Order: sequence, then structure tokens, then C-alpha cells
Amino acid sequence: MRVVHDIEEMRAISQKARAEGKTVGLVPTMGALHSGHIELARRAREECGIVIMSIFVNPIQFGPNEDYEAYPRTLKADAELAEEAGVDYIFAPDAKQMYPKEPLTSVDVGKLTEHLCGASRPGHFRGVATVVAKLFNITRPHRAYFGMKDAQQLRVLIRMNEDLNFGITIVPVPTVREADGLAISSRNTYLSREDRLRAVVLSRSLKLAERLVASGELDAGKIKSAMRDLIMSEVPDALIDYVEIVDDDTVQPIDKVDGKALVALAVRIGGTRLIDNVTVKA
Ligand code: PAF
Repeated sequence: MRVVHDIEEMRAISQKARAEGKTVGLVPTMGALHSGHIELARRAREECGIVIMSIFVNPIQFGPNEDYEAYPRTLKADAELAEEAGVDYIFAPDAKQMYPKEPLTSVDVGKLTEHLCGASRPGHFRGVATVVAKLFNITRPHRAYFGMKDAQQLRVLIRMNEDLNFGITIVPVPTVREADGLAISSRNTYLSREDRLRAVVLSRSLKLAERLVASGELDAGKIKSAMRDLIMSEVPDALIDYVEIVDDDTVQPIDKVDGKALVALAVRIGGTRLIDNVTVKA
């Protein structure tokens, strides 16, 4: 496995692989790899001739008061894990290469970014879509792998790929969970031992939503309120950013579950903002 820092070198490697008829797979990450990322890489390894994993902590997707500086940067350990998972190339540019000038061009995926994390993190998805468009242009993948834990990000990138005719197959990969149900995330490392145990309340509240829908409760307001009650009764000092039920395609809030819906939440536990989601069907 090779670590490539240079954009032009990465572009040449991908072009050569394409010319040789290989399927190029891209796994975009910000590093601090965990089993969720490894699952993306394994899947790409199974399906592609060459696997590129990008590792870039993208400054333009962090808000002014977010954890850009504190975000874990662990390239050496990441490289070992990526190699074990079968990655051929890590693409790890620095911010100066990715943004040599103030970027004046950005990708805005409109309505899909209005709610959920888009509402609480203004500009976040513009930053994500813009950097992923750049990564697509540099690495020219046939297939790109994204985790379903970032449900809104996944929908935004699928739509960007369609709207801008990238022609890439976007592969959604199911969320990897700890044994108790907590969705694996790089930010879980910020949790204290006690908060780590309490964080299971996110997946428990989603399970509750699933049970309610399965038992015929389709009123989104009632489901959300039951989820909120569960969270606040188990973790009274939790700060709920949002508990929302949206249409699975349009990501617009709905009053009644009818067809496929996305139940999503963001909750701060001990100061750490965690997200999770599940899709339900009536
Ligand atoms: O999901 C992430 O790690 C990031 O948002 C991504 C897609 C790599 C863009 O920086």
C-alpha cells in the first residue's frame, strides 16, 4: 500500500488504473479509522480492482465552533488498518493542496440540506459536497463507498452525483455498531467511560421508533415525543439537537409515516454530538 500526498500523482495513478481496465473504488474518510471505515474498505476491496482511501480532515465542512482543530489525526495508525483491509492507496493531501486559494466554487445540494444536520450545522453539507466533488475529480472512481450512519450525507452525495452527472456508483454501506447498539463513530473516542455507556440511548430510542411503527403508530409527532421522553428519562443531561422523521427521499419532515421514512437524531452526551438513524416503512 502507498500513501500519496500529491494531487497530480493521485490523478495519474487513477488514470493508469482506468486505462488498464481496472475498476477504481474510492473510500472517502477523514481518518481516525474505525471498524465502520474498515467495512467500507473491505466492501470496496471485494468489488474493485484498485481501492483508494482518501484521508483528509476537510476544513470547509466544520463550523467556526466545531472540532476541526481537535479532530483526531492518526495517519500512521490509519495506514496500518487500511493496509490490513486491502486498501491499495491512501490519498492524504494537505489543506494547502486541496485549497490553494479561497474556494469560490461550491456545491450546494439545496433542499436535501435544509433539515436535520443541515439545520444545526449551517454550511456543513456544502463543505462535504464540495470536497467530495473534488475527490471524485481527482481520483475518478467508478464506485464510491459511504456509510449509512451519515444518512443525510449519503442522500446529499447520491443527489450530487446524479445532478452533476459524475456517473459514479455510490455504494451505501450499513452502519457498524458496538455490541450494545451504539453506532461506531470517530467521535465516540471523545466520550468518557460513563458517557460511552449512556450513549446507547440513541440506538435504543431508534429501536423504540421501529417498534412503534411496527405496532401501527404512524403519527410522527407521537413517535418523536416517545423517543425524546426515553432519551431524557435515561440521560437527563443529554442535549437533544434534533429528533426528526423525514421522507426517505426528499429529507423533508413528515407528519405521518407513509411509505419509507428516515428517523434520525443528533444528541449531545457529555458535550459530544452523536448522530444515528434508522429507516422505517409503513
Ligand atoms: O464522512 C466523512 O468522513 C466526511 O464527511 C467525508 C465524506 C470524507 C467528506 O469529508
